[in-house]
Order: sequence, then C-alpha cells, then structure tokens
Amino acid sequence: MSTILQVENLSKSYVSGAKDLTVLKNVSFSLSAGSTVSIVGASGSGKTTLLGLCAGLDRASTGSIALNGIILDKLSEDERAAVRNQNVGFIFQNFQLIPTLTALENVMVPLELRKEKNARKKALQLLEKVGLASRHHHYASQLSGGEQQRVSLARAFSNHPKILFADEPTGNLDEETSQKVEKLLFDLNKETGTTLVLVTHDLELAQKTQRIIQLKGGEVISDQSVV
Ligand SMILES: Nc1ncnc2c1ncn2[C@@H]1O[C@H](COP(=O)(O)OP(=O)(O)OP(=O)(O)O)[C@@H](O)[C@H]1O
Ligand SMILES: [Mg+2]
Repeated sequence: MSTILQVENLSKSYVSGAKDLTVLKNVSFSLSAGSTVSIVGASGSGKTTLLGLCAGLDRASTGSIALNGIILDKLSEDERAAVRNQNVGFIFQNFQLIPTLTALENVMVPLELRKEKNARKKALQLLEKVGLASRHHHYASQLSGGEQQRVSLARAFSNHPKILFADEPTGNLDEETSQKVEKLLFDLNKETGTTLVLVTHDLELAQKTQRIIQLKGGEVISDQSVV
C-alpha cells in the first residue's frame, strides 16, 4: 500500500521568553493511504501542533515530512498552501471559519480556490450532508458551536482531500450530531479512500480507527493497531 504521510524525527520548539519550549520531540510514523488513525494524549501533549505540521500549516523546527510524496520541509508558505489545497482537508479544533462569510461562502472558499465549476451547488450539497442546508445563508458568527463545526466539516470535504486531519471533530457536539459526524468521517474514508487522522479525547471513537498513536509531553509513547 502506498504511503500518504511520512514523518521523520519531527521536533517543534517555540521561543518562550528567554528559553525554548519544545512541544514535539523526535516524532516519527508513517501512514498508509486510505488508513484511519487516532492521535490521543492529554491536553498540551502536542496533538494540535503535530496535526498542523503534518498538514503543512506550520513548519517543523527539525525533521522531515512528506505528504503524498511531496517533501514539505523547504517549501514556502505559498507552496505549502498549494499542496494543502490539492491534498488536505482540515477540521480545526476552533473551526476557523471566516466570520464575515456565510456558511455557504465558507464552504465555497476551497472550491473557488481550485476554480471548480458549480462551486455554489457543490457547497450546498455538502451543507445538506451535514444537515445545515437551511442555514446556508447565516454568517458563521451567527451559528452555534456545533453548527460551526459541521460547516467546518463540509469545508474540509469540499476539495476531496486525500488526507483529512480532524482536530476533535466531535468535541462540541451532542450525542446525536456526534454520531452523524462520525459516520460522515468514516463514510468519506470508505467511499473515497480519504486517509483519516483524528485527534480525540473520546477513546470509544479512537477505538473505531485502525491505529492509535499516543503522545505524552510531545513524544510518541505508544503506537498500536486496534484489534
Ligand atoms: N504558538 C505557540 N507558542 C508557544 N507555545 C505554544 C504555541 N502553540 C502551542 N504551544 C504549546 O505547545 C504545547 C502543545 O500544544 P497543543 O495545542 O499541540 O496541545 P494539544 O495536545 O492539542 O492540547 P489540547 O488537547 O488541549 O488541544 C502546549 O503546551 C502549548 O502551550
Ligand atoms: Mg489541541
């Protein structure tokens, strides 16, 4: 099976006051295309940081990342943005919708970046999938947390990503909506072969992926297949 993501000896430090704060240390793993994996660990263990680096949103301090065969390490911000647009869907822990755009316009952004035809129609279909068609004209700032999360999901799906990074995708949802979102994520994996990388505190959800990588203090302390 082909490798969609290869992470080698990744470290990330931030300068904090006079000293360096290392939040990821020597993280290495690789993911097969089409697989599902959860990243778990306590708050502050580096999960969101790791996801951001793997998706090319930020740059590592040391180490190497290859995404769909493209080495991200030396790419400029713009080059990384292009790689993301072609390959990556991202559901942010804090949604990161554009508050001054409507739900529909938020979902249309990646489609328009790709110059896709019928962006509006496709975006509406995606909103329908997450049960928000009737809210498409609401500004992101007028939506509840769970609704924003679902718009964020529709936006992440819109460019048919080869790999989807989802940071606590069900973290703010009620039981019923959470089940729906879970189903959407796994359906996307099954139907289009999108590799799914989930960050979650929900161990029941983690058990539904094929593999669980556990971080502690920025280091991988276990990496196991789910049986
Ligand atoms: N820009 C930054 N500057 C300095 N420190 C940062 C920065 N971003 C993150 N950190 C620190 O890095 C560590 C890891 O943060 P990260 O957001 O990756 O944790 P997390 O595992 O996603 O936690 P949570 O479960 O709470 O979302 C934290 O201690 C955080 O304070
Ligand atoms: Mg986080």
